[in-house]
Amino acid sequence: MLENIVILTGAGISAESGIPVFRSETGLWEEHKVDDVATPEGYERDPELVRNFYNTLRANLKKVAPNPAHLALAELQKKWKNGRVTIVTQNIDDLHERAGSVNILHMHGELLKQSCYRAHGGCGRVFDILEDQKETDQCPVCHRTGTLRPHIVWFGEMPLYMDQIANELRNADLFISIGTSGVVYPAAGFVSTARSYGVPTVEFNLEPSATKGYFDYGVYGKAGTTLPKFVSQLLESEGDFEKLAATLG
Ligand code: APR
Repeated sequence: MLENIVILTGAGISAESGIPVFRSETGLWEEHKVDDVATPEGYERDPELVRNFYNTLRANLKKVAPNPAHLALAELQKKWKNGRVTIVTQNIDDLHERAGSVNILHMHGELLKQSCYRAHGGCGRVFDILEDQKETDQCPVCHRTGTLRPHIVWFGEMPLYMDQIANELRNADLFISIGTSGVVYPAAGFVSTARSYGVPTVEFNLEPSATKGYFDYGVYGKAGTTLPKFVSQLLESEGDFEKLAATLG
C-alpha cells in the first residue's frame, strides 16, 4: 500500500508558466555565466550584478502563474489520505505555494527570501523580500548594512533541509521526479537513494533525463499535460501500487 510520497521538482515544472529552465538553448545558463551569478565567488567579485540578476528573476514572478502541473500536485496533497506528500523542489520560484501546495522543501533557496550573510559578518537570519534587494538595505534583526544577500543556494554551498529530505526518502513508498535534468547533485542522487530503499520511482520529463536508468517508469511529455492525468490515476488507485503501475505501462 502506498502511503508516503516524495516528489522532486525541477525547472521543467515551471517551464509552461513561462519561467526559463537552466539548461536548454534558451535556458538561463546560456545567457549568464554560472560562475558569475550562482557562486559565492561570483558574488564577491560583483555583488551588484548578482543582486540585479535575482532582482530581475524576483520581479518576473509577478508576471507568471502556476500551471496545471503545479495545480495537480496541490490537488494530490489535498486529496491523498494514505500518508504524507512531500514536495522537494530545486526551484526558487513560489509557484508550488501559489498553486496551494503545502509541505514544500526549497532545497536551493527561495527568490522571495533574503538572508543576512554570515560570511560578511551578518547574523544568518532569513527574511521575506518582495521587491528589489539593494546594497543599502539593513538587516531588521542585527541592523547591519550590506550583509543581506539573496537566499539562494549557490554552487559550492550546502543545499537546505538535507536531513529532512533524507528522512522523507527513507520513509517514502513512492518517489516521483518532475522536470529535472538530473545533472545537479545531491538532488540528482535522490532517485538512487530511494531505489536503495526499494521505493518505486517514476520520472516525468519532456525526454529521458541523465538519471533515467534509475527510474522504474518514465512518462514523457509536457508536465502540464501528463501530471494532471497521473494524479487522477494515483488518486483512483487509492494506494494500490499494482493498479497504478498498470496505468504507467
Ligand atoms: N514538462 C516536463 N519537463 C520539462 C518541461 C515540461 N514542460 N520543460 C522542460 N522540461 C525538462 C527538461 O527536459 C529538463 O530535463 O526540465 C528539465 C530542466 O532541467 P534544468 O534546466 O537542468 O533544470 P533543473 O534540473 O531544475 O536544474 C537543477 O541546477 O542550475 C541549477 O540550481 C539550479 O535548481 C537548478 C539545478
